[in-house]
Amino acid sequence: MSYSNNKLLIDKIEVDRVAKQFGTPAYCYSYEKLKDNILKFQNDFRKFKPLICFAVKANNNIKILNEISKLGLGADVVSKGELVVALKSKINPKKIVFSGVGKTYDEIDFAIKKKILLINIESQSEIETILKIAKKNNKTIDIGIRLNPNVDAKTIKQITTGKKINKFGLTEKEVIGLIKNYKNSKYLNIKCLSVHIGSQITSHLPYLKMLRAVQKVIDRSNFHFDYIDLGGGMGIDYKNNNKLLNYKKYSEQINKFVIKNKVKIIFEPGRSIVGNTGFLIAKIIYIKKTSRINFIIIDAGMNDLIRPALYKAYHKIIPTKKNKKKILKIHEFVGPVCETTDKFLSVKSYQKLHEGDNVVICDVGAYGKVLSSNYNLRINASEVLIKKSKVFRIDKKEGLRKFI
Ligand code: LLP
Repeated sequence: MSYSNNKLLIDKIEVDRVAKQFGTPAYCYSYEKLKDNILKFQNDFRKFKPLICFAVKANNNIKILNEISKLGLGADVVSKGELVVALKSKINPKKIVFSGVGKTYDEIDFAIKKKILLINIESQSEIETILKIAKKNNKTIDIGIRLNPNVDAKTIKQITTGKKINKFGLTEKEVIGLIKNYKNSKYLNIKCLSVHIGSQITSHLPYLKMLRAVQKVIDRSNFHFDYIDLGGGMGIDYKNNNKLLNYKKYSEQINKFVIKNKVKIIFEPGRSIVGNTGFLIAKIIYIKKTSRINFIIIDAGMNDLIRPALYKAYHKIIPTKKNKKKILKIHEFVGPVCETTDKFLSVKSYQKLHEGDNVVICDVGAYGKVLSSNYNLRINASEVLIKKSKVFRIDKKEGLRKFI
């Protein structure tokens, strides 16, 4: 992303041109960024060559998944829907893991039929469901067990998953108990120990604690797992303040762990692969000036991007046409939805804006479009991909017909 003659470009394509051609609001993704992120992730952990299973929940666009698949990644899915889309996008089933606390009989049965790599179970009851299916089909099923390591990921409260009070995974004691009970089962093959402590993590320290908790389970159970699935959660730099986790230190610790335990590592990153690849282009419908605040009313709403309303998440907003006229007044970027929380950003000053101008909400490639809805019966934003200096529409066009 850069400006040339004060016009915003994404991978050399003028953003205003994309807006004109495809309409607004529009999610626009950069293939170059996606490829860079994947290469960087692979390189950061190259010493132990992990299996990288992209967390489909972060972005489930089939064309994006297909690019991810072509770049060699697998998938982490949490529903039959995500599994179907992952397979359709040509992700190798032997690179797919199935996570989640509430997988139904039907979903597990389907996943087994598709011969995916692992089902990461999260409760005793889920094991019983798998056993029923395995016995019915007289099959041995490869499973992982998800540990709740009781580690605080020091991230947004709503996206913390690895503490005792969270619904995810099983305690160390429970995991060891399950291993004891099922290690000789004819129907279950315990292959993996999995963990995931939260999302948007910006320090390596919680990860090191998590790794110690995993080591404790291995030592106390005296059991060999083929795979250790360390989940995802790596944060991105929304605020451009370089507050990021230290990949080098994390990678070094994992490498020692791999040598000691002779295991293969799986990761389930979502945000760090796609977060900064996505931009939401929106048009300013009206500028409503009050004595204290200039409300910049744009045509994207909280139904298109709910992260600011739901988590008070910060997303930078930049103009597509830059100018030097700075207006010293609070600018509040809001959407058209009838809710006070339909607000993206409030800043103390901004450059002069005009009705009809476009702006871009940054870093929305993860948990953006996937969390959108049709609230207020608003038609979903379109999605486009910029690849090799060409712009492709990558969603199915939806019209009002969807509502009647
Ligand atoms: N694996 C498991 C089991 C997960 O639950 C998640 C995310 C991931 C992997 C991927 O985590 P990531 O690398 O993307 O941080 N909607 C929230 C984020 C929810 C994350 C849920 N689980 C947001 O917009 O920030």
